[in-house]
Amino acid sequence: MMTGSDSNAVAGGLARHIPVLARRAVEWLGVHDGGIYVDGTFGAGGYSRLILAAPGTRVIGIDRDQNAVAQGTTLVSAADGRLVLVEDRFSNLEAVVESCGIAAVDGVVFDLGISSMQIDEASRGFSFRLDGPLDMRMGRDGPSAADILARASERDLAAIIRTLGEEHHARAIARAIAKAREAQPITTTRSLADIVARVVHARDGMIHPATRTFQALRIFINDELLELARGLAGAERILKPGGRLVVVAFHSLEDRIVKTFLAERSRPPASSRHRPELASAPPTFRVLTKKPEPPDEAEIAANPRARSAKLRAAERSDAAARATVVQTLLPRVPSLSDLMPGRA
Ligand SMILES: C[S@@+](CC[C@H](N)C(=O)[O-])C[C@H]1O[C@@H](n2cnc3c(N)ncnc32)[C@H](O)[C@@H]1O
Repeated sequence: MMTGSDSNAVAGGLARHIPVLARRAVEWLGVHDGGIYVDGTFGAGGYSRLILAAPGTRVIGIDRDQNAVAQGTTLVSAADGRLVLVEDRFSNLEAVVESCGIAAVDGVVFDLGISSMQIDEASRGFSFRLDGPLDMRMGRDGPSAADILARASERDLAAIIRTLGEEHHARAIARAIAKAREAQPITTTRSLADIVARVVHARDGMIHPATRTFQALRIFINDELLELARGLAGAERILKPGGRLVVVAFHSLEDRIVKTFLAERSRPPASSRHRPELASAPPTFRVLTKKPEPPDEAEIAANPRARSAKLRAAERSDAAARATVVQTLLPRVPSLSDLMPGRA
């Protein structure tokens, strides 16, 4: 995630976009001359820029946001053929890499969540501080947050807000939304923020009362956790032996998925003398960060939104990639395809 207002560390055209943990992420990637890397969350290109600073490196940048891709064209030109930028979801990273004629890569990095460019643009509908249409889509397709508020049952809304927002007041919020939409559709960020603020009262030092509800809806409509689970599985398939996976997460739901995936993939095989057929597969990753790495105090002071960031890194072994049942990595919550049949 990019944030802050320090003009010394500009990632893109606008001074306010500062990548979080970028240097550490690129150090953990083990970038070496001539290596090929996937930046699965291109954003303003802060991570890609640092990777490209090593001679002869090549980067495949992916972002589902067409604005991020459009704004990245300057960096593509400056990179002289070493940066390819693709508008897609990182759950498709294997296909994206293959479409570039590349079979395997030296590193994959995900810097999860949304960018400052997205949150600061009122028309995108991500911010409860700015009034705008209740959209929240990172990409071009799929239902908006307003569509979900109009369609989901009160019970599903409560489950989404409780699970994906980790919000204790989820039932009361869902009830308030259901009541409000009887009078008129909820179509703006301000109207949703006001509905939530009437139920969850702000206290000194607390986050804005609508923070968790907005987080839940954003994660839900962008299918962010399924994207992450599929992205991790794709990275496992596309990394060379010795290649590195680095993930920067911004809340516990994301970090739990990364932690669980890596714990499972790095576990030594269990063998049974009596039931050899039950022996588990060899580890596909070696975890490099024993504990998730936070930003240091200086970064948090310069960039308060960095405070919840956690970095995990792992190195690919030469064992064959495993089949992944992504659902086992996800919390139980109604899915987008439950509410919107026909979506993948
Ligand atoms: C926190 S920003 C990344 C910032 C970037 N590291 C930089 O230095 O500028 C996250 C970006 O990832 C993109 N994104 C989030 N989920 C995605 C997904 N599933 N597939 C592709 N892009 C995604 C968002 O659109 C956003 O631009």
